[in-house]
Amino acid sequence: MNNTPPLEKPHSADHIDTVAVIGAGSIGLAWAMVFASAGLKVRIFETDIPTRDSALAETAMKLTEMSTAGLLDEPISTVIDRISVPASLEETLIGAGFVQESVIENLEVKIALFAELDRLTGRDVVLASSTSTIMASRFAEDLPGRERCLVVHPANPPHFLRIAEIVPAAFTSPTAIQISRDLLLRIDIAPILLDREIEGFAFNRLQGALLREAYCLVRDGIISPADIDTLVREGLGRRWSLIGPFTTSELNTRGGLRRHGELMGPVYARLGLERGHENPWTEGTIDRVAREIEAQLPHDSWEENVRERDRAMMQLSSLLKDFDNPLAGAGSTTPGVVTSARGVQ
Ligand SMILES: NC(=O)c1ccc[n+]([C@@H]2O[C@H](COP(=O)([O-])OP(=O)(O)OC[C@H]3O[C@@H](n4cnc5c(N)ncnc54)[C@H](O)[C@@H]3O)[C@@H](O)[C@H]2O)c1
Repeated sequence: MNNTPPLEKPHSADHIDTVAVIGAGSIGLAWAMVFASAGLKVRIFETDIPTRDSALAETAMKLTEMSTAGLLDEPISTVIDRISVPASLEETLIGAGFVQESVIENLEVKIALFAELDRLTGRDVVLASSTSTIMASRFAEDLPGRERCLVVHPANPPHFLRIAEIVPAAFTSPTAIQISRDLLLRIDIAPILLDREIEGFAFNRLQGALLREAYCLVRDGIISPADIDTLVREGLGRRWSLIGPFTTSELNTRGGLRRHGELMGPVYARLGLERGHENPWTEGTIDRVAREIEAQLPHDSWEENVRERDRAMMQLSSLLKDFDNPLAGAGSTTPGVVTSARGVQ
């Protein structure tokens, strides 16, 4: 089947009406829901028979929950009718313009599967992997059609956290990147494009940086695990759900990111050096970040942008006012529950 020309000319994802999802675990089913609720036909392939047999019922259950929460624009039956679960990989791939591999995180399994996908699909079909940790160069390097292979790494679950990292290998063609980007935009997932492969991609590097420091603080008896969770959930995370860490720095200091860099850069650099990290707070990097962040803010005036942030925070607080979070646990701000590095008091 692999006799169509390789991806050469830039073209969009407009022609794609069917997507193949390989693997019906939590990520595979979530991708199926995201593609199908955006109007695409989805074929799922799964090797484990009980998982395959329950895939549609499981998807329908998750779609029902989404519908109940008001997160589905169409009736559940309309969305589920777009999804099928063929018995063979060959059948699954018929007519698919894009493949989202979502099988177990195992290099040998991915190498064998991508060899099959490369053999069974035309060269104009993009082959994307959901992998969290394995770079495409490790599972697609030796394939004749490697130029259409790349990583499209979702956040978990992709039907709620609507971003995915596009991580091309050095051999991935610009067309495959463009098609992946277009398709993500079509299904309302924000594409985060990395320039090149790097272990952990960006999502897990950022998450890892926070976790690393959190573990250090707990290990050194500075703070309890529950208070770390509360601090991030009620503080940093609440703010980051509206603006990212760079925009936070821009709006936290009069004078914006450059002034923030002058004031806080040396402090943060010292904290990093204490943990054995290099210092990234250089003038050139701060200037580049400041220029890009300033350019995307809605107003020229710093004060007006701060007012926008406050308005957004207020709206979010109002939406969350009556939200009873069962996962807040021992780290909740419930009066009377005081946690410390020495335990609950
Ligand atoms: N779970 C997460 O938080 C998360 C987040 C982002 C990305 N990912 C990535 O997504 C992928 C899937 O993760 P998951 O959490 O859904 O795993 P999972 O274990 O829940 O599901 C994997 C499924 O793939 C099936 N499978 C195995 N080999 C297969 C094959 N050759 N063909 C078809 N099906 C096969 C398994 O039977 C299983 O049902 C992994 O690469 C993982 O790194 C996971």
